[in-house]
Parts: sequence; structure tokens; C-alpha cells
Amino acid sequence: MQINLSEMYVDSEIKKVVTDVLDSRRYIKGNQLRLFEEEFSSFCGADYGIGVSSGTSAMLLTMMGLEVGQDDEVIVPSHTFIASASPAKFMGATPVYVDIDPLTYTLDPEKLEAAITSRTKAIIVVHLYGHPADMDRIMSIAKKYEIPVIEDACQSHAAEYKGRKTGSLADMAIFSFFPSKNMTVAGDGGMVVTSDEELAKKMSMLRDHGRTDKYLHEMLGLNLRLSEMPASVGRIQLKHLHEWTEARRKAAARYRSLLNGVVETPSEKEWAKHAYYVYTIQTENRDDLQQHLNENGVSTGLYYPVPVHRQPCMQAEDCVLPVTDACVEKILSLPMHPQLTEEQIEYIADRIKEWKK
Ligand SMILES: Cc1ncc(COP(=O)(O)O)c(C=O)c1O
Repeated sequence: MQINLSEMYVDSEIKKVVTDVLDSRRYIKGNQLRLFEEEFSSFCGADYGIGVSSGTSAMLLTMMGLEVGQDDEVIVPSHTFIASASPAKFMGATPVYVDIDPLTYTLDPEKLEAAITSRTKAIIVVHLYGHPADMDRIMSIAKKYEIPVIEDACQSHAAEYKGRKTGSLADMAIFSFFPSKNMTVAGDGGMVVTSDEELAKKMSMLRDHGRTDKYLHEMLGLNLRLSEMPASVGRIQLKHLHEWTEARRKAAARYRSLLNGVVETPSEKEWAKHAYYVYTIQTENRDDLQQHLNENGVSTGLYYPVPVHRQPCMQAEDCVLPVTDACVEKILSLPMHPQLTEEQIEYIADRIKEWKK
């Protein structure tokens, strides 16, 4: 048996919309992008969507929108993909890393306030693996200091916090539609969502060369646009997102019932609806288990073996993040996608149990 870590869904409807865009001869700044922005932001419970070329572009655009620059600090967890933090550094600011809660893998609100200084320009929370961060506590601290909060929701499409979707919980949120994500555009793509009209207008201009008119550039922007073809795929994928999220949650429940007491299974807080972008367990001798699963045809992933503060390009070796440093040795992500069958989950659990003996 060969079981992949993730699978992208393609059907005849997706093939048709791509062909329709090809035939239309309209490849950028058309109806597909506009409708995808409207439909996706509305799904999240936010007023505006700004489609961009990747999740990384989305984070860069939020930094540009907030005018993050030299002398600024941006608070961010280190246990995440590098693109949660690198755009802040790219803009000349200093990422300030805050440790995570050991159960949810998201920014620990207890440790947030101590990291805030007069230079803090923004706080980035990451709903890692699809579990939302504890937003009420984070937002109340941010409000006290009047610091904008950005949700990195690149792994949490359709996840919920106290009944509200990620993407609507802070000042802005970013999403990635990379092929492995809970929904994709069949390539690179991303979106910023916000209910702040002024910021939305500004970011919309910034992702299109700061234009007010075809030949007039009022702000220093870039080309970070999302094209029509990926937007058209995103619109179809979005229609399946609810049903796919339920399928992921069902697979997670099955994993939990089979692996409880064998390895450490993911937690889900009572206020959270986990979207299970990946199903991340923890165990001693993780590399050995990964090799055993690999030899038995089961693909697994490490999200992420080297925390951001230890990346050579981020130059932040001196910070102290004990929870982050401890979990990176033990985490292992098992296959997770809506098409995963009961039989496949049982096969994976059996291989883990035989390794554990
Ligand atoms: C948490 C997180 N932030 C940011 C990104 C960046 O998204 P992209 O790969 O679309 O640039 C990703 C995706 O890999 C991610 O998982």
C-alpha cells in the first residue's frame, strides 16, 4: 500500500473552468478573481478579500499595508513555516519570537505581554496544523497596547474559534492555496482577508504596483496578483471546503480512537474546531518511526524540524523557546486528506502499533 501525505482533488468541473478561462483570453484582473475574493472572504466572515500569488505574498502584503519597517518589531511564533516571519524581516523589521502552548502549538497568550515593547508594530498568530490560537486572550492584550494582529491562517481554512471562522478573528488574516492545503488553486496562490475597508483598499493597490490608474502609481507597490486560472479553481474548491473539513475531522477522530495511548495524539480545545491540515502526533524516537512508516509505504512530514529562530537567514539564535525546541524533536505528521479511507487509517495505525511493540 502507498499512502500519500496529502492529495489534491481534481474533477471535471475544475478542468472545465480552467479551459473556460483559457478560452476567454482574459487571464488577469477579471471576474474569476473578483468573485473568488468575494466568495472566500464571505466564507471566512470578513468583508474584503485581496487575492495574491501565494501565502508568502499575502504576509508580505500585510507588512506593506501596515508599513512595517526598520526599527519595528513583529511578534510571531517560531514553530511555524518560515513565511510567517520572513516577510517582516524582509521589510527590515525584527521578528520577536514567542513560545507556543504545548497542546495547541499556537502562540501562548501567557507569554505575549512580556514580548511587547514600544517598537512592536504587529502581532502574528499562526493557527498551526488547523487548530486556532486562543484569540480572545491574544486580542485583549493587543487591544490594550493598540497593536494590530494578523492571523496566519495558511493551515486553517474553515477552522473555527468559538463558532467564528479563522480569517475573521483579528485585523487581517492570510491564507495560502498551495497544492497541499485544505483547499488549493492548483498551484501557488493566497489571499488576505480583512473587514478594514481602508486597509483593504490600500493592500489592493499595493499588490498591483500601487496603481490608481493604468499609468499612475501613487504608492510603491509590487505585482503580487492572483491570476484568473487559479482563482477559477479556488472558487470550485471552496464549494467543497465544508464537506472536506468534515471528512478530515472524521479521519482525525478515527486516528485518535486507534492511536490513543500509543502515541501523543493532537488536542482540540473545547472552544476550537480543528481543521486538521495535518494530523501531527508526538513520540520519542520519531525518526525511527518515520523510517518504519516510509518502509511500509506511508508518507509522513515534519512541520517543522528547524524552528524559524534557528534558520540561518533569520539570525535569532539567542532566544529561549523551550516548548518550541522540545516539540520539534518529537513531532510527526501522518497522512491527512478528505479522501483518506478507513482502511488506510487502520493500516497506518497498525504499522505504528507494531513499531511501538
Ligand atoms: C503557516 C504558513 N504560513 C505561510 C505559508 C506560506 O504560504 P505559501 O507557501 O503559499 O507561500 C504557509 C504555506 O506553506 C504556511 O503553512
